[in-house]
Amino acid sequence: MCGIVGVVGKTEIAPILVESLCRLEYRGYDSCGVATLNSVGVEVRKDVGFVQEVAYRQKFASAHGGLGIAHTRWATHGGVTRENAHPHLSCDGTFAVAHNGIISNHEILRRELRGLGHRFSSETDTEVFPHIVEEIHRSGISVEEAFVRALRRLEGSFAIAMISSRDPEKIYCARQRSPLVLGIDSGRHFFVGSDVNAFLHFTRRAVVLEDGEYAVLSRDGYFVRAIADGRTRSKPIMEINWSLGETEKAGYRHYMEKEIWEQPDVIRRAMEVSQKEIVAVARLMRAAKRNVLVGVGTTYYVSLFGQYLFAGLAGEFSPAFSSDESGELLMMDRETLLLAISQSGETFDTLQTIRQAKADGARTAAIVNVPGSSMTREAEIVIHQNSGPEICVISTKAAMAQMLLLMRMALELGYLRQHPPAMENLDLLREIMELPDLVETMLRNQQLQIRDLAHRFSNRRNWFYLGRGLYTPIALESALKMKEVTYLHAEGMAAGFLKHGTLSLIDEETPCVFLIPPKEAKDLYDLTMGSVAEVRARRGKVIAFAFESGGGKFDEEVILPKASVWLAPLLHLVAGQVLAYETALVLGRNIDRPRSLAKSVTVS
Ligand code: G6P
Repeated sequence: MCGIVGVVGKTEIAPILVESLCRLEYRGYDSCGVATLNSVGVEVRKDVGFVQEVAYRQKFASAHGGLGIAHTRWATHGGVTRENAHPHLSCDGTFAVAHNGIISNHEILRRELRGLGHRFSSETDTEVFPHIVEEIHRSGISVEEAFVRALRRLEGSFAIAMISSRDPEKIYCARQRSPLVLGIDSGRHFFVGSDVNAFLHFTRRAVVLEDGEYAVLSRDGYFVRAIADGRTRSKPIMEINWSLGETEKAGYRHYMEKEIWEQPDVIRRAMEVSQKEIVAVARLMRAAKRNVLVGVGTTYYVSLFGQYLFAGLAGEFSPAFSSDESGELLMMDRETLLLAISQSGETFDTLQTIRQAKADGARTAAIVNVPGSSMTREAEIVIHQNSGPEICVISTKAAMAQMLLLMRMALELGYLRQHPPAMENLDLLREIMELPDLVETMLRNQQLQIRDLAHRFSNRRNWFYLGRGLYTPIALESALKMKEVTYLHAEGMAAGFLKHGTLSLIDEETPCVFLIPPKEAKDLYDLTMGSVAEVRARRGKVIAFAFESGGGKFDEEVILPKASVWLAPLLHLVAGQVLAYETALVLGRNIDRPRSLAKSVTVS
C-alpha cells in the first residue's frame, strides 16, 4: 500500500511532486522518493522517513526536470531502508520505476535477470521491473514496446509509473489490480496517481485506468491502451466533485479532528443520497434468498452494525463477514446478494470478495466513498456515500455515513416486507435529519469532559468497550479507534460475553467504557446495567457514555444529548472517536498516520 504520483508539465515539476506526495502520504509513510528527468538523465532522491522530513533533507523540491515520478512507501517486500525506497533504477540508471502492489513472480524474474548479469540494490519485488525493461529494450525496440512486454512478464498486482532517459518526454504507467488514475489538467499538467488526492489540488478531471490498461503521458496529452493487444481505449473523463478545501486541515490540529467535526455535514450528505438508490438495493435484498454484508477493519464493524439493523428493522438475518476471512466462509450463489462496504473502494480483501461473488453468480452492491475507485466500477449497484475525502488513516466520518445508509436500507427493506418495527419507525428518517444538530451539540458540550477523561486515564494499558445488541458493533469499532491511534490495548465486546471468560481481566486498573442505551430500550438497558454491576463488583472503572445519569452506578459518566433508540449508538460512535483522539493527543501519538498502518490496504 503505497502512493504513486507522476507529473508531466511545462514547468519545473518537483514542487508539484512534493505537494502531491504529501497528499498521498496517508497511503504509506515509512520512506519516499522522487525521480525526475533532466539534462543529466534520471535523477533519484529518496530516503527513510515521513515525506516532509525526507523532502527537506534530500531537497526534493530542487530536483530539476519537467517530468517525474514519486512514491511514498509502506513496506511489504523488504525492510524500511533507503535502498528499498522507490523509485528503483535499472543497472544503467536509464529507467526509474515506482510501484504499488506485489509482483508475485519476482523471485523467478530476479534469478533470470541475475543470470543475464543484472545486479540488484534492494530487496524489493519492484526492482525487477526496471531491469526487465532495460533488458528487453536492448533488443532495439521502442521504450513503449519494452514497457508493455515487461508488463506481460509480471504476475500479481501492480500500479506502475516509469520514466526513462531513453524516451525523455513521457511517463509510462500501467494498472493490474492496484489502483491508478490519470489527472487531466489540459494545457498545463498531466498526472498519474494512486488516487485522485494526488492531483485534486490542480484538477478535478480524472480518467480511471482499468485492470490490464497502460497509459503514456506527455506534455501534449495522453493515450490509454490495452496491455494484452496494444489496442487504444477511449476513456471517459470524470469530474470529481470533491473540493480542494476538503483536503485541507482548515485550522484543525489533525485531519482526524477535522473529520470528526465534519460529521454533521457528512450525515446531511448521506441523507441526500437519493431514495431511488436505496430502494434499488433494498429490492435486490428482498429478491435474494441470502444477503451478506462484508467489509474489513472499520467497515467490518459497520457491516456488523448493518447486521443488527437488518435484523431489528427488517426482520432479516444478513450475516456480516470480515472480508479477509470471507474466502473460507462465504458460500455465494445466484441467490445471494453481497453488500460490500468500503471507504476507499480499493481494499484488496473486499474487492476480492466482490470478484468471487460475481464469479459465483451472486448479485453485488457496494457502499463506497472514493469516486472512480475499483469497487464503484466492479459492483453491480453502487451507493456513493459522498462523504468527501477522508485523509486521516483512521476512519471516522466515512463509517458514520455508511451506518446511516445501512439504516436507510434496513428501513426500506423492512417497509417492503411490512415488518412491524420498520412500520413503527417510519419517523426515523425525520429523526435522522436532527442527528447533525445532536452530533454538533455533543461535540461542543462533551469534548472538554472527554478530554479530561483522556488526561486522567491515558496511563491505563488495557481498555474495554462494552455494549449490547446494536451497541456491540459500536463497542468493537470504538476499541479499534483506541488501538489504532493510541497504541493502547483495547478490546471491544458484547457486554454479555464478558462473564464468559474476560471478566478475569477486570480489576481497579481497567477502564471499561460502557455504551449505555437510552432507558426506552428497556431490555437492552437492563442487560447493560447488569454487566455494569459485574464490572463494578470486580472494582473495574466504569466510564459510561449514557443518556442520563446512573445515579452513582458509574465511576465516570458522559451524558450525551437525548436520541432515539436507533440513533443513540451513533452518538456513542462519536464519543468513542473523541476519546481515542484526545487520548492519543495526551500520549503524543502520530494521530493522522499511526505507526504501521495504512489507509488503503490494496494487497492481500
Ligand atoms: C485499512 C485501514 C482501516 C480501514 C480498512 C478498510 O485496514 O487501516 O482503517 O477500516 O482498511 O478500508 P476500506 O477503505 O475498505 O473501508
